[in-house]
Amino acid sequence: MLPYKSLIALQKRTAVPVYQQISNRLVDLIRGGVIKPGASLPSSRQMATLLRVHRKTVMAAYEELYVQDWVETIPRKGIMVSKRLPEISQKICKEMPGKKGYSHQPRIGYRNIVPESQRILNAGDHRLIINDGFPDLRIAPLDSILKEYRYLLRQPAMLRRMQYGDPAGSLNLRESLSQFLLDTRGIDCTPENIMMTHGAQMAISLAARLILRPGSTVVVGEPNYFMANKIFEECGARLIKIRVDENGMDVDALERICERKKPDLLYVIPHHHHPTTVTLSCDRRMNLATLIRKYKIPVIEDDYDYDFHYDSSPILPLASADHGGHVISVGSLSKCLAPSVRVGYMVAPSNFVRQASELRKLTDVRSDNLLEESLAIIFKNGDFQRHLKKSVKLYRQRRDFMCSLLNDELGNKITFTIPSGGMALWVKFNKKYPLSGISARASARGLYISDGLFYDSPNIHYNAIRMGFASLNEKEMRMAVDILKSEM
Ligand SMILES: Cc1ncc(COP(=O)(O)O)c(C=O)c1O
Repeated sequence: MLPYKSLIALQKRTAVPVYQQISNRLVDLIRGGVIKPGASLPSSRQMATLLRVHRKTVMAAYEELYVQDWVETIPRKGIMVSKRLPEISQKICKEMPGKKGYSHQPRIGYRNIVPESQRILNAGDHRLIINDGFPDLRIAPLDSILKEYRYLLRQPAMLRRMQYGDPAGSLNLRESLSQFLLDTRGIDCTPENIMMTHGAQMAISLAARLILRPGSTVVVGEPNYFMANKIFEECGARLIKIRVDENGMDVDALERICERKKPDLLYVIPHHHHPTTVTLSCDRRMNLATLIRKYKIPVIEDDYDYDFHYDSSPILPLASADHGGHVISVGSLSKCLAPSVRVGYMVAPSNFVRQASELRKLTDVRSDNLLEESLAIIFKNGDFQRHLKKSVKLYRQRRDFMCSLLNDELGNKITFTIPSGGMALWVKFNKKYPLSGISARASARGLYISDGLFYDSPNIHYNAIRMGFASLNEKEMRMAVDILKSEM
């Protein structure tokens, strides 16, 4: 008999269950030719004695091998290694003529979503990153989420919820979220009014695709969140741009447009407008709510950053006012947790939510239910709210630090206004200092900073960028600003 005791070394400190360690090791031994096809394995009792484990553990390991076709059970002989091992054997087929593999250029007709020539600077390759305004992943409550994720995996009832299920997302999370939205921003909605999405981005896209047709008109701010503009253009809509000043979108300009012809959609970012970070003033918000009711304008209210306000209590979103069912509110949990934890939501009349869910199914049958259920738990036990509180406190300090650092070091070369919330500053660089050059030189020194070109429109060059302060600690901010200073 083979020296199984030394061939199968079991680890105590590992998450891999013992039976799986045994079956994995036996597969390795079979694959490596140490145990030959047709050979008998020791009985479960013998193997249990050899390895000093419970017999049931060996039986579970053998069961695993049997299910995977590595062994057969032969009556009165015991367990034998299969004569035909379950390795994937590639079917031999005639070589296709021509070159193998994928080339750069497809031989099929397709649309370019971005110009092929667009420079792609990969932020991840840099040691320091000034991003658009993302949270600090080092404080994200990923452990809490993971703990609940693991806990849920062990619940037998969870198996049933791992089917495709409701494309609107976890009911538990939608229940928790409806309470949270009421408590934090006065949005009165039920779980039927909420659809969970992969981030706010998906919610904007679904709402736009349901509302717009080729030739539709969409009123947006100038400048605006470029990814939203892209969505609307992809739907075949024409953008009507109105000025965004220090009080937010120019609502009088919207009224003049409505007097001529009602637009098919208005896209508004009421708090910390992207990119300029301004907040729609209270007066304008009230006028806007009146206009929406008067002209029955469909609205996507993108409140991606609402949870981060630093100075006083925030102005409530349009969705909390009497809007006559015209406002589709969009929000993001990714901004509170981590950009790659893709969870956002849409709040809308329930029939709209239903149609949006059906539309979603065409590209993404549903979101990650285990993640959503885990989030529902951290909403219920208060971990999420505690994390938000902690983040707001920290990001307020970082905003203040970044503002004074920029004033001290680059004061005569840039201008910016201190935002009341959000995670970024909108920093305009003096025209003498073109951002394209600064971005390239900073990149060579390990600092990623955007060149801001995507904010430009054909006749406006802003030479400005969003400088995210939330994800950098004070030392990192100093290092980044030092590099910028020396490259200007
Ligand atoms: C204004 C605005 N809306 C929506 C999004 C997308 O957010 P999410 O990551 O939740 O999809 C962003 C991302 O930066 C944003 O700036």
